[in-house]
Amino acid sequence: QHFRLAVIPGDGIGKEVIDEGLRVINHLEKSSNGKFSFETDYFPWGCEYYLENGKMMAEDGLEQIKNHDAIYFGAVGFPNVPDHVSLWGLRIAICQGLDQWANIRPVEFLPGVESPLNHPDRDHLNWVLVRENTEGEYSGIGGRNFTGRGPGKEVAVQSSIFTEEGCERIIRHAFELARTRKRKKVTSVTKSNAQQYGMVLWDEVFERVSKDYPDVETDQWLVDAMAAQFVLHPEDLEVVVASNLLADILSDLGSALAGSLGIAASANLNPDRKYPSMFESVHGSAPDIAGQGIANPIGAIGSAALMLENLGLQNEAELINKAIRETTKEGLLTADIGGKNSTKEVTDGIISHLSKI
Ligand code: NAI
Ligand code: MG
Repeated sequence: QHFRLAVIPGDGIGKEVIDEGLRVINHLEKSSNGKFSFETDYFPWGCEYYLENGKMMAEDGLEQIKNHDAIYFGAVGFPNVPDHVSLWGLRIAICQGLDQWANIRPVEFLPGVESPLNHPDRDHLNWVLVRENTEGEYSGIGGRNFTGRGPGKEVAVQSSIFTEEGCERIIRHAFELARTRKRKKVTSVTKSNAQQYGMVLWDEVFERVSKDYPDVETDQWLVDAMAAQFVLHPEDLEVVVASNLLADILSDLGSALAGSLGIAASANLNPDRKYPSMFESVHGSAPDIAGQGIANPIGAIGSAALMLENLGLQNEAELINKAIRETTKEGLLTADIGGKNSTKEVTDGIISHLSKI
């Protein structure tokens, strides 16, 4: 099998961690004895590209990547370009343009990693966030200065869009995912007491869809209470489905509880398989540590594992995840999770465990 990857390193530590993920993939490719091979096309889009060209990606950028088998993405954003420009110009443009409507973000607790969570069963906790990735609060609809009133009196409007179809497909996806996991449970999170239109629609769709899955346990929460639940009773979580903004926030909370943003992986899926899916760590470009060689590569390497799984290489994906756990257990850790190792040393550790398994 031959796969074509579109690689978009982006900015800051995005560039550093993507190299590490590709090193791991190259290693697996070499030891696969020709079972599979990868070809990588690089796209230099991001904030530097913006400063030269006035846009974050090429005009026909989506055309250039839409026929690849998968997209491997670093992170975007750097202090010299406003964050809403960089995010909308690249990451959101790709997710929405290629209809990657399901963002999957596993929360995984790794052995040997310091975590602020005090829980008796901590090393065995894991749950997964299913984030609606194309509409909701990130619809991009609204505007500034509607009333034309003077300085200090501006009014801005930011609208959310919730479509019945959009809610249904992401909720169904969460139920299907729950069926593949040990404890079949889906928790839906909204703020439908305060957001009385879109999120009430979401709740109604959730109740309707849940009837098709009598074998799956369900739960419905408001997001403020769910934030507390993440900290107090994470053992109750299995698959958590929520809107674009709410799941974005909860996933950072989840990865911080697990020890660091640097270890969280994610997949932006087009489950219809009409377009390629995109794989990226949850963290951003981390300008505060960029260029120092100390970024944690585990989020990006875990995202590479999600990519291989999506390409049908389940065994290889599992091998990577196992090697990550062996490496943290052994104490090879970057500074964000309480260690002293460099980005490269951690990846080398993961690769050497891969050679042993
Ligand atoms: P961030 O995730 O870049 O950094 C937050 C904190 O976590 C920083 O202290 C950083 O050093 C640390 N951190 C993040 N990843 C790490 C890693 N792999 N290893 C060690 N430490 C790590 O979020 P922040 O600072 O809010 O945003 C920085 C830029 O990234 C902004 O321009 C923002 O818009 C962008 N961003 C881009 C995202 C994307 O491309 N998907 C997602 C989130 C933010
Ligand atoms: Mg985020």
